[in-house]
Amino acid sequence: MDYRIQGKVKPRGEISVGGDKSITHRGLILGSLAEGVTVLKGYSRGRDCASTLELLKTMGIDIVETDGILTVTGRGRFGLTEPDNILDCGNSGTTMRLFAGVLAGQDFFTVLTGDASLRKRPMDRVINPLRQMGAEIRARALGRFAPLCITGRNLTGLNYEMPIASAQVKSAILLAGLHARGETIVREPILTRDHTERMLEYLGADIERTDGHVIRVSGGRRMKGREITVPGDISSAAFFLVLAAIAEDAEVRITGVGVNPNRTGILDALRAMGADICVANPRLMGNEPVADLVVKNSRLKAVTLSGNIIPRVIDEIPVLAVAATQAEGKTVIRDAGELRIKETDRIRAIFEGLRKMGAAVKEDREGLTIEGPVRLRAADCASFDDHRIALSLTVAGLIAEGETVIRNAECVAISFPEFAEKVRALTTAETLVQKGD
Ligand code: S3P
Repeated sequence: MDYRIQGKVKPRGEISVGGDKSITHRGLILGSLAEGVTVLKGYSRGRDCASTLELLKTMGIDIVETDGILTVTGRGRFGLTEPDNILDCGNSGTTMRLFAGVLAGQDFFTVLTGDASLRKRPMDRVINPLRQMGAEIRARALGRFAPLCITGRNLTGLNYEMPIASAQVKSAILLAGLHARGETIVREPILTRDHTERMLEYLGADIERTDGHVIRVSGGRRMKGREITVPGDISSAAFFLVLAAIAEDAEVRITGVGVNPNRTGILDALRAMGADICVANPRLMGNEPVADLVVKNSRLKAVTLSGNIIPRVIDEIPVLAVAATQAEGKTVIRDAGELRIKETDRIRAIFEGLRKMGAAVKEDREGLTIEGPVRLRAADCASFDDHRIALSLTVAGLIAEGETVIRNAECVAISFPEFAEKVRALTTAETLVQKGD
């Protein structure tokens, strides 16, 4: 299926976005490992979270959907049962890495695999620390790539200094720590999203955090199921934040967005560029901060993004690159080499897409340089089968003159199946049409 986009929109109105993908994964997994019922409201309908849900069902967890609400009946930390087939994580790195942590300490054997993209992404970053806890995990290419074969073992707590800033790696170790003897301590080099820690606290696990960078969890304590309302995904909202900041005559209100400080790099970056963003009606949902975001178009200026902000904006860099094409001056993005090992090489993919649309963009090993402002022109673009690339280039197409085509746009459903409907709600029905299978 392709997207056909009629450019030069003037987006106006109010929308909500789908539930946060990271929090939904954690709600499903931790709800299953807790005892009793966890009710998940506003969960992500994306395909990545569906992969996590299917894995849990395959391992004996009862999960029922009624009226848009999921009811997960948790069976405790050792309540999963051995699946009789390999487990398919689809396109989802979070599913594979978090389950590696959960399954390492179970009393059974599992094989985790995924699609062609996921089978190229590094898994040694979770396998190595898990092995130090006593896990028995074998993987392709000398322990680097999926499929992963996991033989559950008794684990021992670990004191681990993380060499890279990754919430998935941190979460895998903490989840293994729930099944380990003694204490597990993780130190992060730079703060990353802390949804796992917040949800562990919320469900009553034995977890403690000091100065943010050090997290300690211990194995013995039982967790209890609770109601979790998942906030809107700021990584999905980001496409509309950028669109409203750069489109003519725009004013968009996005309601109920998660504004966890480890995720709001997009707000800081856009504000530093001069965007007019108002954070309204702040509140707490479960253990996560939420607000409404109101954005109006304004003149943007270039910024440099590097260092500590990068993990707080990692998934939003492709769409920030689109914003940078409309900003006065040279935007420089550094320290973002992790982007090369996401669902696709996102530095290369956004570089190629934006160049096709007439942007002045350069790529280097760990980032991008973009000079603006330029008038983008409509183009025929590849999605690279990556949801965030398809979505970012759609935003570029929405401000370009003429018809932009995004090939193989079905990948959008990985994180944001409601996207086209939201674009139409802020513009017109003709703005974005889907063609083909
Ligand atoms: C995620 C962590 C990040 C992010 C991904 C979701 C998570 O990945 O890019 O989309 O839910 O923990 P890394 O941990 O690999 O940086």
